[in-house]
Amino acid sequence: MLRIAVLVSGGGTNLQAIIDSIASGDITDTQIVGVISNNKNAYALTRAKDADIPAFVVSPKDYDNRELFNRALLDTVDSLDADLIVLAGFLVVIPEIMIDAYENRIINIHPSLIPSFCGTGYYGLKVHEAALSRGVKVVGATVHFVDKGTDTGPIIMQKAVQVENGDTPSILQRRVMEQAEWIIMPKAIDKIAHGKVKVVDGIAIVED
Ligand code: GRF
Repeated sequence: MLRIAVLVSGGGTNLQAIIDSIASGDITDTQIVGVISNNKNAYALTRAKDADIPAFVVSPKDYDNRELFNRALLDTVDSLDADLIVLAGFLVVIPEIMIDAYENRIINIHPSLIPSFCGTGYYGLKVHEAALSRGVKVVGATVHFVDKGTDTGPIIMQKAVQVENGDTPSILQRRVMEQAEWIIMPKAIDKIAHGKVKVVDGIAIVED
């Protein structure tokens, strides 16, 4: 049984996709052992409670400095005894102590086809604004392992989504979620749960 901790900051639609995929059997041999939010008002916390999943708030506002917050975040994750940390819209830079402690055991969903529209400053609607400004015709989402760079870790899964005439950043964001994020995040977790993802020389190899 893969024990996953899901870290969130906002609406939690990716969390919901994981919860639903476990309920439907699209993800097997996996249990969400806790949801952690840096934001006490995140709707994702309600989704966790509705699904009877233990939910925790670790907010930087409650700590005197970043180091103490980072330590508390790591302690909370450690207390869940998780095999995998899933960043599902978590808007906090992951502390290096956590990356060292969970090497190739932290995954993130990014709403673009990495290496396009990723890195510092590319998050949320900004990603979709940049894609529309550049006039690309295909966008998408990426699930990747988290390393010490920003969106630079081994790529596990990607899915392309068509840009359509008249798209606004919000319309495109929604389509990328529906057609890519909510599909590949659960798939990647299921692959990891079944030992089908390995990292060799910095590249993720995913078995069929
Ligand atoms: C998603 O677009 C995800 O790709 C990004 O943050 C957003 C989170 O949405 N990293 P939600 O909280 O899962 O609804």
